[in-house]
Amino acid sequence: MVEQTGNIDALLQEERRFPPPEEFARKANIRDPGVYDEADRDFEGFWARFAEELHWFKKWDKVLEWDPPFVKWFVGGKTNVAYNCLDRHLGARRNKAALVWEGEPGDWKVYTYWDLHREVCKAANALKSLGVRKGDRVTIYLPMVPELAIAVLACARIGAPHSVVFGGFSIEALRDRINDSQAKVLITADGGYRRGNVLALKGNADASLEGAPTVEKVLVVRRTGTADDQMVAGRDVWWHDLVDAQSAKCDAEPMDAEDILYLLYTSGTTGKPKGIVHTTAGYMVGTYATAKWVFDLKEDDVYWCTADIGWVTGHSYIVYGPLANGATTVMYEGSPDYPDRDRFWAIVEKYGATICYTAPTAIRTFMRWGEEFPKRRDLSSLRLLGSVGEPINPEAWMWYWQNIGGGRCPVVDTWWQTETGQILIAPLPGITTLKPGSATRPFPGIQAEVVDEAGVPVGAGQGGYLVLQRPWPGMLRTIYGDPDRYVEQYWSRYPDTYFTADGCKRDEDGYFWLLGRVDDVINVSAHRISTMEVESALVDHEAVAEAASIGRSHDVKGQAVVAFVTLKESVPASDALVAELKQHVATKIGAIARPDDIFFTAELPKTRSQKIMRRLLRDVAEGRALGDTTTLADPAVVESLKAQYDDDE
Ligand code: WTA
Repeated sequence: MVEQTGNIDALLQEERRFPPPEEFARKANIRDPGVYDEADRDFEGFWARFAEELHWFKKWDKVLEWDPPFVKWFVGGKTNVAYNCLDRHLGARRNKAALVWEGEPGDWKVYTYWDLHREVCKAANALKSLGVRKGDRVTIYLPMVPELAIAVLACARIGAPHSVVFGGFSIEALRDRINDSQAKVLITADGGYRRGNVLALKGNADASLEGAPTVEKVLVVRRTGTADDQMVAGRDVWWHDLVDAQSAKCDAEPMDAEDILYLLYTSGTTGKPKGIVHTTAGYMVGTYATAKWVFDLKEDDVYWCTADIGWVTGHSYIVYGPLANGATTVMYEGSPDYPDRDRFWAIVEKYGATICYTAPTAIRTFMRWGEEFPKRRDLSSLRLLGSVGEPINPEAWMWYWQNIGGGRCPVVDTWWQTETGQILIAPLPGITTLKPGSATRPFPGIQAEVVDEAGVPVGAGQGGYLVLQRPWPGMLRTIYGDPDRYVEQYWSRYPDTYFTADGCKRDEDGYFWLLGRVDDVINVSAHRISTMEVESALVDHEAVAEAASIGRSHDVKGQAVVAFVTLKESVPASDALVAELKQHVATKIGAIARPDDIFFTAELPKTRSQKIMRRLLRDVAEGRALGDTTTLADPAVVESLKAQYDDDE
């Protein structure tokens, strides 16, 4: 199956080619490469054909209204995403497994479409009884329990935009997100299980609500039994008391195509996290179409995306995309090494997963643990593998292909963002010849380009910025409450063109090779953290005068957070302080943002206009020869930093 080409000047791994395995290609949903040209000729018609497959209370009048950078899809249409994820399947699929959930301690539950429909209706009625009306925001801060998927769908059913906050986020991060969205209700749990421990959430939720006055009611899922004495009278209600008592009948609210479906906060380069706004119809069509074609979804697939619903991947490809397709979607609560390092593969074996979608950071961890763990389990049910969140290095791709896919499963490397809502660059596994490390080419109907500073497309093999030149249905509509920032952040660099802030190159076959972020976002274990947030957290500590943070490459996590800190004059540097500052960042933002290294420095390198030169700090942290220092106010600062860093390594 592996074809080697004769070209030797590029890296060897870039020369490997994997055409679709014959057996796979024969059965694939999409076998005709003509779909690309067809979609290009009429991209509106292309997306509209997917929309036709879904349920509408009222059909749209117009597919697209594009007034750059503001977009509307399926204008005039009325639909409901939860209806499409549930009710639409209550005919032939009513007793099919919709959600297969496994808890970390080993408990598990299967919800058929009928079951899930009932639970979502009850939860929707419960939200209504708490005063939630169409348009009210609901913040959801839950571990990966079934109630998380149910809560999201219940919000969608009644037209209350949800804002899911990852359960690993800190008190302050939660509070900021609640306040920005002005949420009326918070759904949380007493705790969840992670690596055998209880991850307590209720205490965090309570603390964050001091200073979040918009929240009137808190709905609490009982998972760990660790907050029975923490219920606040008049405000807190147990999920099992309220939801279980509701009627299982709740009509889905007919939503306007452009009504908000959800907000999801993500890190930007400056300022507070951005509330990315996704609306109803376009997002539904975009996730439906891409789940169907990229994952080649079939009626009998058991599809598992290992992400957390707290991130966009979980929204689009655990909940909405798969369920809109009537698929069986698997959800796992805990960590991949509990009770042992074969847990993921035990799950694949137990439920007969046919598709597994995970992140390169996880794959590199599995590589480090060794092949013996996947070997313990029967992985023969798998037929397709996926990757998302950061560039996958060819070595990890090959390991995944070989050790998890047994050399028989195409690996779809899918590039997209919280903002794009849906996969935009990825193979169609029945058609595309794969190259390890490349996300291959744009999904049909998507127009992507790699350009230089001036917006001119660069030649084959040259690096540039990835941009998108045509609207797509799942794209963000704005930043919640801040349309100016939306325009400035994504649309100001090039006219009528979406700026991704990712570096990219195209090869001579037109394949896209993603090169990582070009802005001040650090991609840790496939999650975005802004340098600015880490810096604010550090400066918040009483010992710190100034801080700069950057990402440096890390074998497993992709990038690790490194911080350079200037202490206040009276404060002596010490190892204890390093530990304290790391913990401070983890407490302020969440464990995911904890710096791997902190270096003290008398001064940070700055330009004459006093901008911190993160590029130079990156050079220092990567151990590279120093880049251009001509604009630096005091070049000696970097030299001394570099000397200190080299000593430490
Ligand atoms: C990176 C996650 C290379 C990229 C869906 C992007 C990737 C950011 C890939 C978005 C991929 C995501 N190859 N890089 N297949 N997928 N990225 O918003 O830098 O959490 O801009 O969305 O992750 O991260 P986000």
